[in-house]
Amino acid sequence: MSETFDIIIRNAAVIDGTGAPRVRADVGTRADRIVRIGDLAAERAGREIDASALVAAPGFIDAHTHDDRMLLSDPAMAPKVSQGVTTVITGNCGISLACSPALSASIPPLDLLDSDGEWFRYPRFEAYRDALAAAPAATNAACLIGHTTLRAATMARLDRPASARETARMRALAGQALAAGAIGISSGTAYAPAAAATTQELIEVCRPLAGTRGLYVTHMRNEDERVLEAMDETFAIGRALGVAVVISHHKCVGKANHGRSGETLALIERTRAQQDLGLDCYPYTASSTVMQSGRAGQATQVLVTWSKPHPELSGKTLAEAARALGVSEAQAIERLKPAGAIYFLMDEADVRRILAYPQTMIGSDGLPHDARPHPRLWGTFPRVLGHYARDLGLFPLETAVHKMTGLTAARFGLQDRGVLREGAYADVTLFDPLTVLDAASFDDPVQPAHGIHSVFVNGEAVWVHGQATGARPGRLLHA
Ligand code: ZN
Ligand code: CU
Repeated sequence: MSETFDIIIRNAAVIDGTGAPRVRADVGTRADRIVRIGDLAAERAGREIDASALVAAPGFIDAHTHDDRMLLSDPAMAPKVSQGVTTVITGNCGISLACSPALSASIPPLDLLDSDGEWFRYPRFEAYRDALAAAPAATNAACLIGHTTLRAATMARLDRPASARETARMRALAGQALAAGAIGISSGTAYAPAAAATTQELIEVCRPLAGTRGLYVTHMRNEDERVLEAMDETFAIGRALGVAVVISHHKCVGKANHGRSGETLALIERTRAQQDLGLDCYPYTASSTVMQSGRAGQATQVLVTWSKPHPELSGKTLAEAARALGVSEAQAIERLKPAGAIYFLMDEADVRRILAYPQTMIGSDGLPHDARPHPRLWGTFPRVLGHYARDLGLFPLETAVHKMTGLTAARFGLQDRGVLREGAYADVTLFDPLTVLDAASFDDPVQPAHGIHSVFVNGEAVWVHGQATGARPGRLLHA
C-alpha cells in the first residue's frame, strides 16, 4: 500500500507522551494528523527532517496560562511555541477575557490580562470563541471561564458574597459558556474581588459542570498557613458537584510553611482515592502576580514586573523602587499600583517534591503582558526537561514529557492530543535532549529557550530555526 506524507521526521527518539520508554522510529504526517510511526525508509515526503539527534515528542500542553489575550493580540505566541508548547489552557485563577464585563477601572488581578481594559470586550463566551476563529493563533487553546470575571460582570460591588439573583446570573453565564465550548470554570478566591465568595457561591456558580466532563480549576483561597483548609474547600466543591478538580500552581508559601508539601501531597494522594483530582506546578521558587502587600511580606525578595504609574521601575527590586521614590517599601507598594511583582517565597525542596509527584502537570502561569515578566513565561518547559529531568535527574525524560503532554491531555479531556500515535493530531515538538534548557532568567527574562528544534501544530510548522514561522494553525479545543 502506498501512502503520501506531508512531513517525515526521520530516525527520531520517539517519546510518545504516555510515559513509555523512547523508541527509535520515523514519524509521518499528512494534513493535520500523524499517519504512521515506524520505518518509513522507502517513503518520501514534501518535507523531510533528519531527527537522528532529536527527540520527537507530542507538542507540550501548558496546563496553566493567562494567554487569553495573547492568542488574539500576539497570535504568533512566541513565548509558547519557542518552548515547544502547542496547546494552552486559558482562563485560570478566576480571570478570563471571555464573559468579561466592560471595565471602567483597573480591577486587580483582572488587569493581568490587560491593564488598559480595552480587551475586556467579550461579554459572552461565543464572542471570544468567534474572535479566535476569525483570527486564529499559532497554538491550540482550551478555555476556562473565570469566576472572578463572572463576578465583575454581574455584581456592582465585589466585597460581599453574591446574592441569590447574582449567583443565578453567573450560573446562567457559566452554563452558556460551557455549552459554547468552554472546558471548565476557574476561581481565584485568594484575590480581593473573589475573596468574599462563599463555598456555597462557588458550588452554585459551578453547578452547570455537574454531569459534564468540565473541570473546576482553582487558585485556592490560601497557599500558606491555611493551605490544608483551602484544599478541603476545593475537594468539597468537587464532591458537591461530582466533578474533577485541579489545584493550580500548587505551592507552600512563606518560610513558616516551607517543607509542608509532604503534608499537602499526602492529603492529595489520600483524597484521590475518593474523587477525581489533579494539580499543576511551575518549576521556580518565585511566584508572580499583581502587587500585593501580603505577598510581599512573605517574600525574601520582590521584583517589580510592571507598574502603570512608574513603568521606569519595572525590573527593579522593591527596595530599589522604594529608594528611587524616596519612600518606605510599604509606601512604594501603594505608589507603584496598579502593578505586578515577582515574589521569592518558596522552598526548592517543595518545588522538587511537587514537580516529581506523579499527578503533577506542568503549567507555566506565565504573564505575557508584563514589562519584565517572570522567566517562567519563556522558560518553564525547557527548564523541566533540561534542568530538572536531565541535569538534576529528578525524573526520566519520558516522565517529564508525560507531565506536559499525555497526563495533561487526559486531565483536560483533549481528544487525540498529548500523544504521538497513528491517528492523533500532528502536534509535534522536536528537541535536542543534550542541549534543551531554559535561557530566560530573572535578570534577562525574554529569551527563547535552547534546544527546541522545530514545533508543529495540526501538521503545520510554527517554530523553525529559532523563529516563529507566522503560521496560525491553532484551534479552539473542546473537552
Ligand atoms: Zn493563580
Ligand atoms: Cu495563574
